[in-house]
Amino acid sequence: MSSVVLTGIGELFTADPELGVLHAAALVVEGSRVAWVGPARQAPAADTGYDVAGRAVIPGFVDSHTHLVFAGDRAEEFAARMTGTPYSAGGIRTTVAATRAATDEQLAANLARLVDEMRRQGTTTVEVKSGYGLSVADEARSLGIARHVTEDTTFLGAHVVPPEYADDPGGYVDLVTGPMLAACAPHARWIDVFCERGAFDADQARAILHAGKVKGLGGRLHANQLGPGPGVQLACELGLDAVDHCTYLSDDDVTALADSGTVATLLPGVEFSTRSPYPDARRLLDAGVPVALASDCNPGSCYTSSMPLCIALAVREMGMSPAEALTAATRGGARALSRGDVGHLGLGASADLVVLDAPSYVHLAYRPGVPLARETWLRGRRAGL
Ligand code: NIG
Ligand code: FE
Repeated sequence: MSSVVLTGIGELFTADPELGVLHAAALVVEGSRVAWVGPARQAPAADTGYDVAGRAVIPGFVDSHTHLVFAGDRAEEFAARMTGTPYSAGGIRTTVAATRAATDEQLAANLARLVDEMRRQGTTTVEVKSGYGLSVADEARSLGIARHVTEDTTFLGAHVVPPEYADDPGGYVDLVTGPMLAACAPHARWIDVFCERGAFDADQARAILHAGKVKGLGGRLHANQLGPGPGVQLACELGLDAVDHCTYLSDDDVTALADSGTVATLLPGVEFSTRSPYPDARRLLDAGVPVALASDCNPGSCYTSSMPLCIALAVREMGMSPAEALTAATRGGARALSRGDVGHLGLGASADLVVLDAPSYVHLAYRPGVPLARETWLRGRRAGL
């Protein structure tokens, strides 16, 4: 197994609570793993050396919430929203029609384009949901395609009720929990439900998550995005790994999150792109709730793939410090996906890291909109940039 020592690291943000932030540091990669981290002057020898010339190094971002299998876009809907038309869950059906009409090759090519876009911005782990097929065949093929780019695939047949079931939502839930789940479970690690007015209620969400659990899938929820609702409480009651959006929270919701340890995944790109109030990350952190940041990249509510943008928004608009935001975008995302191997640069971690064109990680929020990811390393190898 070959090894490389990264030297000249001006600042190393490990996202490992024991190691913290190091200055004048070095890091040894052996094969695909981090084998040593510490002060540069104590660095052990390795097969090769690689000098990053004083730049900052951070863990690769863990984007724990995306919807990347789709066709088309909704630029006109976005433009209308910016002149006053409110966002609603119904727009999802536009993308469902385009996705059903696309070939497998078109869907795979669009997915590959977006994953590549993410890599270039420093994302090294990405969760990908289905949810724009909404038929047995279209959900199963969406997940089959997603499986090629990530092990963290999520079955989201319960995104909205498709038009052909508009008069029979109960029949659609039966389809999701029956034949659709049977076809999708082999391609998925997780099951998710959009628990919101206009989508699925708490009873439906409970039934769908239960059916997924029986098939061995972990549960996650979209909840409390468009208004207050029962989703966050349900996620905490069921002990889910994560509940995502969390824009409208009551005091009881915050207490339930703190008590359950369920990760609150905040998606500030959505509030930016739907011109909505941002979630109060400070309130969650002060209550001891584990927080993750993710992009929610999708063609409707938020068409950004940029984790640095999410960090900048979280710092500027949501009361997070730069360190808290970067931790949420790395270790927090990993926790939301129940992954101990990524999202930090402690010993034994996957050598997924980003060399920034900056002397400090703080620049991620301090220099919003600037492409700071100079190099992305994935499992010990520099991604072709
Ligand atoms: O996470 N909230 C539900 N689903 C997506 C939006 C999907 C869409 O508008 O196409 C979200 O925001
Ligand atoms: Fe989403």
